[in-house]
Amino acid sequence: MGGKFFVGGNWKCNGTTEEVKKIVATLNDGKVPSGDVVEVVVSPPFVFLSLVQSLLRNDFQVAAQNCWVKKSGAFTGEVSAEMLVNLGIPWVIIGHSERRSLLGESNEFVGDKVAYAVSQGLKVIACVGETLEQREAGSTVDVVAAQTKAIADRISDWKNVVIAYEPVWAIGTGKVATPAQAQEVHSELRKWLNANVSAEVAESTRIIYGGSVNGANSKELAGQPDVDGFLVGGASLKPEFLDIINSAT
Ligand code: G3P
Repeated sequence: MGGKFFVGGNWKCNGTTEEVKKIVATLNDGKVPSGDVVEVVVSPPFVFLSLVQSLLRNDFQVAAQNCWVKKSGAFTGEVSAEMLVNLGIPWVIIGHSERRSLLGESNEFVGDKVAYAVSQGLKVIACVGETLEQREAGSTVDVVAAQTKAIADRISDWKNVVIAYEPVWAIGTGKVATPAQAQEVHSELRKWLNANVSAEVAESTRIIYGGSVNGANSKELAGQPDVDGFLVGGASLKPEFLDIINSAT
């Protein structure tokens, strides 16, 4: 893997101003490996981005949980990549499975969003992952390869892209992928990048795992050769997120 171990915290649609301040205070007091070992990015809801950005320790970064597919304009309710750049928000999560399933975001739409966000200078956590039905049908690798292809067809510069493999059946369920399951898909994704993009991109692109990661399972998952970090949901709202960060190898 090129680059530092990556730990993202996806707060999803959670929090009040008081709760956000408490989470940030806990993170600010936490003891974590130095910034040349681990890269930490927390992702609050849009409404708390500036607050978190203003309070968070400066060795952690902030991500939005989504952005629009083109420049600002008559798109009610959307937030553009330019707005995030203007706020000084460096990262954005794109293609989360909850947006793919709840809002019908297609592979192509996700690919277009990743391409536009990258073109505006944002760093992107691009999410892929299969449903339980797709896994049980044996089509996991085909599904995540197609999701990754839709991104690869639209970008040429991967330096600001992190791929998050998040099996849908592990998200929010407490049913974490086994280290072997995670390693298998991460390895297949890296092979796909090697065959379809380049050896350099395959080697340097961080592939992180998401789906019921917690303080108890993160160390073993982090020990897998192709697991370059995590995208954490529920546990990122709790002090145990610091334990997950400290599982960085
Ligand atoms: O984006 C991370 C998220 O989907 C994982 O959620 O709660 O299973 O850690 P959780």
